[in-house]
Amino acid sequence: MSKSEKIKSRRSFLNIILGTSIGAFFASVFYPVFRYLIPPENTEPVPTSVVAGTVNELKPNSGKIFRFGRKPAILIKTPQGELRSFTAICTHLACTVQYRDDLEHIWCACHNGHYDLHGKNIKGPPPRPLTQYVVNVQGDKILVSKEA
Ligand code: FES
Repeated sequence: MSKSEKIKSRRSFLNIILGTSIGAFFASVFYPVFRYLIPPENTEPVPTSVVAGTVNELKPNSGKIFRFGRKPAILIKTPQGELRSFTAICTHLACTVQYRDDLEHIWCACHNGHYDLHGKNIKGPPPRPLTQYVVNVQGDKILVSKEA
C-alpha cells in the first residue's frame, strides 16, 4: 500500500468515525425531543361501564367526581334523590366541572359555566350540554355506563 493510499484510507476511516459520532449525537438529542412531542399510543382499554360509587355514599344534593377510563365523570344525587351521571369535562375549554350544592346544579369554575341537573348548559360560555351517562344500581353499587 502506497503512502497516499494509506493516508486516504485513514481519512475515510476518520470520516466514518466522525460521521457516526455526529449522527449518534443528533440522534441522542432529537430522539427524546421527538418522543416527548409525540405521545405514546393509548393502549388502555376504554371501559363501557364503571362502578362510580356505592348507594349510601352520596346524600341528596351532592355529587362526586370519578374516573371513567382516563377521563373524569361526575355522579350527582339530585335534591330529590335521583342519581345522574355525566362527563365531567366542560364543553367550553375542557375544565373539570363540579357539583355546587348551594346552586343545586353543575358548575365549571374556570369561566363560571353552569349546567342544570340534566347536563344542559344554562349560563356562561359552555356551548353544548354535558354528555349524559346511564346509571344503574346493582346491589349497593352504582354502575355508570355510556350506553343503555
Ligand atoms: S372551561 Fe368551563 S366554562 Fe370555560
